Amino acid sequence: MDVEAVIREVLQRIRPSEDERAFIKGLMRELEGIAKETSESLGLDVKPYFVGSLAKDTYLAGDHDIDLFLAFPLETPLEELRERGLELGKAIAEKLDSHELAYAEHPYVRATYKEVKVDLVPCYDVKSWKDVRTAVDRSILHTKWVIENLEGRNNDVRLLKRFLKGINAYGSEIYVRGFSGYLAEILVIKYGSFLEVLRNVDFMLRQKIIDPGNWLKREHEIAMRTIRREADSDRPLIVLDPVDPRRNVAANLSWEKYGRFYFRAREFLDGPSAKFFFPEKPRAGNYLGELRRKGTHLLVLVFEKPDLIDDLLLPQLERSARGFEKALSRKGFAVLGWDAGYSGGKAFIMLELDRIERERVTIKPGPEFFTERGLDFYRKNARVWLRGKRLYAEKIIKEGIVDVISELLEKNQVALGKGIRENIKRADVLLDYVPKELEESAYLFLSREKWNLK
Ligand code: CTP
Ligand code: MG
Repeated sequence: MDVEAVIREVLQRIRPSEDERAFIKGLMRELEGIAKETSESLGLDVKPYFVGSLAKDTYLAGDHDIDLFLAFPLETPLEELRERGLELGKAIAEKLDSHELAYAEHPYVRATYKEVKVDLVPCYDVKSWKDVRTAVDRSILHTKWVIENLEGRNNDVRLLKRFLKGINAYGSEIYVRGFSGYLAEILVIKYGSFLEVLRNVDFMLRQKIIDPGNWLKREHEIAMRTIRREADSDRPLIVLDPVDPRRNVAANLSWEKYGRFYFRAREFLDGPSAKFFFPEKPRAGNYLGELRRKGTHLLVLVFEKPDLIDDLLLPQLERSARGFEKALSRKGFAVLGWDAGYSGGKAFIMLELDRIERERVTIKPGPEFFTERGLDFYRKNARVWLRGKRLYAEKIIKEGIVDVISELLEKNQVALGKGIRENIKRADVLLDYVPKELEESAYLFLSREKWNLK
């Protein structure tokens, strides 16, 4: 299929319909009214702003979470912004369908209205990066910048986002470390179109620095400081935020996710297909077959999933898995790979090991040499020596990995994530076996289907 046809087909699926657009527009108008009214009735001088992909018209069909930012005047003390922002969020949410509290740098209200998720996020009404005080303040500036610069290339952004999702490289959350929506927008603006972004996959890596806001001219010192800092951290890309020279928009992008993009972009240009955007689920295979084929072993810790949001839980799971990798290798087991995650109410850490038993030499004290038992000891042991009148021998003991794990946990010799330590200590330890609901995860891990590029 030629590339134009593929793009047409994909756009059919990801471009919001007129109905969806009209529904969203109506919802936004309604919410704006409610926000203004509520803020006035509380005597607050707060401006509502829509940010995120909805405000920029870069959302994918069916994927329309609303970000409604509640902007307080810059003079508001931070404490007051926190308290009153939350109060206002709650008061607005009372008029919607349901709500709960969510946590980021400061708490905010996450509501649902007509089955759409609405985040009500307090922030400062910033006009420039110099005003930025909390992590979310820039979003208003981002939205404005994208709207001013996108020049009708909204569908190119949609294509790029869907492509990145399809190849599993989308999302800037710390446990994903992929491309954020904003980064995708900047790349489309910089290179002109979805295809041009793909065509520049090698060039942009070599060029390294992208500066769409011209900060190197306008704020040379600050921009250079950012570049040096990010270069020292060995980032694949340094994209100076067009609204803030202190920030690298691609700071959370890992080499692995850029690498996926690198290969898939080339493959797509060589052989365009909608599969890149909408991949088939990897074939489920048999994890026991993988173990046999590789001659390795699988150790799984299964435990109660703590009630933490993904942003907190997943990094802690990773830290703990790495902790086991380190601790076990100190004990002489080679860890060939690890994975961690959860499924339903159960969290897991999987480790692939070269063996599940190891031999260790200990010293065995024996009886005095001139006794019946001493002669017996002398006969039975291989390597024997005297210390004073007592016999000693080397003893080889076999240690099973399950015992090693319990001992490591008992003695606190594994670096574990703080919020999940207690649950891990109560984990079930399984060897070369997983319960039904983890069979697929075990296969994807052992076969490396989860990460394989080819
Ligand atoms: N944001 C950011 N950097 C990130 C994540 C978010 O600057 N790593 C800001 C951006 O201003 C972005 C806003 O938060 O516009 C909303 O974030 P998000 O919902 O993740 O991105 P969207 O652009 O809305 O994309 P999506 O379609 O995936 O929701
Ligand atoms: Mg969004």
